[in-house]
Amino acid sequence: PQAKDPYRTGYHFQPRKNWINDPNGPLIYKGIYHLFYQYNPSSVVWGNIVWAHSTSTDLVNWIPHEAAIYPSILSDINGCWSGSVTILPSGKPAILYTGINPDKEQVQNLAFPKNLSDPFLREWVKVPQNPLMAPTQANQINASSFRDPTTAWLGPDKRWRLIIGSKRNHRGLAILYRSKDFMHWTKAKHPLYSTPKNGMWECPDFFPVSKTKLLGLDTSAIGPDVKHVLKVSLDNTRKEYYTIGTYNVSKDIYIPDDGSIESDSGLRYDYGKFYASKTFFDSAKNRRILWGWINESSSVSGDIKKGWSGLQAIPRTIVLDKSRKQLVQWPVVELEKLRTNEVKLPSTLLKGGSLHEVIGVTAAQADVDVAFEISDLKKAEVMDPSWTNAQLLCSKKGTSVKGALGPFGLLAFVSKDLKEKTAIFYRIFKSHNNNNKYVVLMCSDQSRSSLNPDNDMTTYGTFVNVDPLHEKLSLRSLIDHSIVESFGGKGKECITARVYPTLAVDGDTHLYAFNYGSESVKIAGSAWSMKTAKIN
Ligand code: FRU
Repeated sequence: PQAKDPYRTGYHFQPRKNWINDPNGPLIYKGIYHLFYQYNPSSVVWGNIVWAHSTSTDLVNWIPHEAAIYPSILSDINGCWSGSVTILPSGKPAILYTGINPDKEQVQNLAFPKNLSDPFLREWVKVPQNPLMAPTQANQINASSFRDPTTAWLGPDKRWRLIIGSKRNHRGLAILYRSKDFMHWTKAKHPLYSTPKNGMWECPDFFPVSKTKLLGLDTSAIGPDVKHVLKVSLDNTRKEYYTIGTYNVSKDIYIPDDGSIESDSGLRYDYGKFYASKTFFDSAKNRRILWGWINESSSVSGDIKKGWSGLQAIPRTIVLDKSRKQLVQWPVVELEKLRTNEVKLPSTLLKGGSLHEVIGVTAAQADVDVAFEISDLKKAEVMDPSWTNAQLLCSKKGTSVKGALGPFGLLAFVSKDLKEKTAIFYRIFKSHNNNNKYVVLMCSDQSRSSLNPDNDMTTYGTFVNVDPLHEKLSLRSLIDHSIVESFGGKGKECITARVYPTLAVDGDTHLYAFNYGSESVKIAGSAWSMKTAKIN
């Protein structure tokens, strides 16, 4: 038997082998959660794409099924690309997905479950009318940039709407289609939204969020208590951006409140590796759940060696922040049932320059939830107004650069000799006009994560909108063999990193809290070993 692969995850979703990318068509049906995903059944690199399929009753443990959608008709003979599920008013789920036709054009196809009394919805039937939407001379759609239909929503006029990612020259577009019967779709004259730069919008997502309740909403919800979110994935940078705004359903246009959907000043779900994400409404628990693909930091030769590539992030519950200016994300609560052997960190003073090992957890497979309290902010360094790019600031001021308030945080995947480590940390700066305002920087520093130079070890960072004068700075990290997903400011910002340590693997992995700043900070919280979920 082969030695165990130290990088396979204990509780993050992955198939047994081969390449995966986007989550597709997540849904709940008769109490069972479904996840489909882009999958290459025969290789660790992208290609031969089908919709692989797994189901779960708790979003934690997953059973694999046969591929649900695979090339079988002319309009998907060259691949079954991303798409979404809509639950029709009858309760019947419908898959709309992008097929690649014999001319390598991108078209949209529809499929229904073969047997609605099969709770696993294992077999799907493609309708004979496919493709339902296609590029033509008349509609001027770019045939190689027309993909990833969203979940459809029903307007008060009883017409369905959905958007499809596209581009025209450099303009990113969310092409809008409407239908009365879900079968005949007409392209609207105007896109739901578009912007002049940055090209192809992959995997758009468009959904309502409640202004007042910490609950999710059905995708068709509209009304005075509702804001809308538009998210797009940019293939040229592999980054996602979202805005919060207003959807005018009679004019069918979306107007973002402010911010940008296509630049580094825009909002992101995750400032690390997180792409092609998609939400769905969980009608059983009235919440909206976000799935995202975590792409690799390993090289192709590394992927060939381990036999797999790609993961899904832990599904996250997503709500509007009370500021109404951003979203807040948190791992689904079901994950907590994997927690075991809690190690409590009683309130401890971390003096400047100190390192505190967290003993008693399986440090390669853990859930850590801590908060930092700062009693004295007077010595905080002054923020230079030119430091607008958080990621750059995190790489310039990496873990080893000592400051006043920070870096302090967690060291994950630490080898015994401390040569390998992945640092997730905060720095606090005083606003340059000294008005008692502070800027909080959150970083995930992978530059020392592995002695193997073949991996992408880019440092990630973001500013977090918390006020350290009045609030504790919380940090939760989900550590799982080759991934660390970190949630700062109670889910206000997330950073996901993939790491491939050579020494800090399995039982040789250590976990520390640290403070390399000159000023003291207090830490308190808990760390748990995580049981292994049953995944595929
Ligand atoms: C995003 C994406 C989608 C496409 C799919 C193909 O990662 O490129 O736009 O539908 O992957 O696998």
